[in-house]
Amino acid sequence: MTKTAIIYSFNTKKTGKIAERIREAFNGDLIEMINAEEITEELFLSFNQLIMGVPTWFDGELPNYWDEFVPALEDLDLSGKKIALYGLGDQIGYPENFVDGMGIMAEILERQGATLVGFTSTSGYQFENSRAVRGNQFSGLAIDFENQGSMNKERVAAWVEQLKSEFSQ
Ligand SMILES: Cc1cc2nc3c(=O)[nH]c(=O)nc-3n(C[C@H](O)[C@H](O)[C@H](O)COP(=O)(O)O)c2cc1C
Repeated sequence: MTKTAIIYSFNTKKTGKIAERIREAFNGDLIEMINAEEITEELFLSFNQLIMGVPTWFDGELPNYWDEFVPALEDLDLSGKKIALYGLGDQIGYPENFVDGMGIMAEILERQGATLVGFTSTSGYQFENSRAVRGNQFSGLAIDFENQGSMNKERVAAWVEQLKSEFSQ
């Protein structure tokens, strides 16, 4: 069975909680939890299936720990890698930049040749603008703890079922 990495900052509460939920939903599949603050190119490249947790900070920016890894990512050949993103954001507090960080990361990964999986519908969310939107989909799973935390469980469960199928294709 192919091993899947979930890469997120171990210093986050909300992003970390979703990482745990994702792991539980995969129940039994081979999952390795990796700290985004300690990720190296070598470790990243050792996986063919990856899930990355990308909250949005600073009004539409990546958190520092991901920003610091971007120059390294921009040197990697990611062809053959299947990558799913989950993004955390606040659609009421930041309606102009909702989950932008997930969109920024999606653009970088695609430029490097990765195949992105796990796109989800934007219906059920309300915001003005997001860099993570492609047509009527997000380039991953959008999680909003601040306003829709009660939906996290079912959103993650449905997404993981989708990933199980998309990773295996
Ligand atoms: C200073 C600050 C800026 C933020 N900027 C954005 C933003 O531009 N877009 C967005 O969707 N969410 C934004 N958020 C909301 C966070 O993405 C959200 O709280 C997320 O759950 C944080 O996850 P973490 O604590 O695990 O990093 C911001 C939050 C803070 C505190």
